[in-house]
Amino acid sequence: MGPSDILLTDQVAIVTGSGAGIGQGIAAGLAAFGADVVVAEIDPERARVTAGLIESQGRRCLAVPTDMSDTEQIRSMVDEAQRHFGRLDILVNNVGGVRQAPFLDQSERSWRRHIDLNLISLFATTAAATPTMISGAKGGSIVNVASIEALRAAPEFAVYAACKAAMTNFTRTMALELAEHGIRVNALAPDIIATPGIRGIITGPVPSPLPPARGRSSEGVTRYVPLGREGSIDDCAGAAVFLCSAMARYVTGVTLSIDGGTAASAGWVRRADGRGWQLVAEQADA
Ligand SMILES: NC(=O)c1ccc[n+]([C@@H]2O[C@H](COP(=O)([O-])OP(=O)(O)OC[C@H]3O[C@@H](n4cnc5c(N)ncnc54)[C@H](O)[C@@H]3O)[C@@H](O)[C@H]2O)c1
Repeated sequence: MGPSDILLTDQVAIVTGSGAGIGQGIAAGLAAFGADVVVAEIDPERARVTAGLIESQGRRCLAVPTDMSDTEQIRSMVDEAQRHFGRLDILVNNVGGVRQAPFLDQSERSWRRHIDLNLISLFATTAAATPTMISGAKGGSIVNVASIEALRAAPEFAVYAACKAAMTNFTRTMALELAEHGIRVNALAPDIIATPGIRGIITGPVPSPLPPARGRSSEGVTRYVPLGREGSIDDCAGAAVFLCSAMARYVTGVTLSIDGGTAASAGWVRRADGRGWQLVAEQADA
């Protein structure tokens, strides 16, 4: 083993929803470690920004305008990627979306939109891309971007959380089905990563400037996140590069939390004076 085991030189990656946020960070991160990247993104302007980040690192980029909730568009995006690069080594199923509402206020249309974007897109992209990886006979890596909401109850995010939980189990099953081809399948479970998407949930729609390299450290965040700050897209990119590289050659079927410790904390928060920890219930009783 040596430092070159982290490199992805000349590998080809598809990253879905990579015009902003976590997908953009992962696309740029894979390029920084040597991969060429297919940007599958619905917004052409955002795709151009990501293409610029990839090309500025000396790597090739193919931006394919794709609505990832449309399985026909997914299949033609993968075909175009295969024609253009002739190989595929990495697939990052990042695209996803959420509308916050109590379950009883959600319409059937809303359930189906969640399922199309968060789950059917995962199935369709995996089904379309994996045969090219198999025929390359060099193995490969699939990284599914799930969420901390896959691991805990998520009031007002019920359908989204159910989709993300399904994603983590699909990850485990695919890890077994694809093991004989040397294709490893893992998931990320991020929590509060500074992206246009999460800002949109908290404050309403926001434009898409590149988020800061380190997330904010407001008082609430400092108390909730053991590492004391929001996550950044680079925090997610680092984990994705690791999982795609030979450094993770014996890692498959796992869901890796990228959350500064929030999944581990499970209800513990920092005391308001910063001295030690308390369970949220103790605070309510005080
Ligand atoms: N940001 C977080 O804190 C967080 C936490 C947990 C999980 N996640 C997951 O990470 C993934 C990315 O989240 P984000 O916060 O970076 O999102 P984001 O909204 O900041 O960026 C998403 C990107 O996907 C694109 N996109 C949206 N719909 C699309 C479609 N139908 N087809 C193609 N592209 C589309 C958007 O244009 C945008 O460029 C999602 O799966 C989300 O559920 C995010």
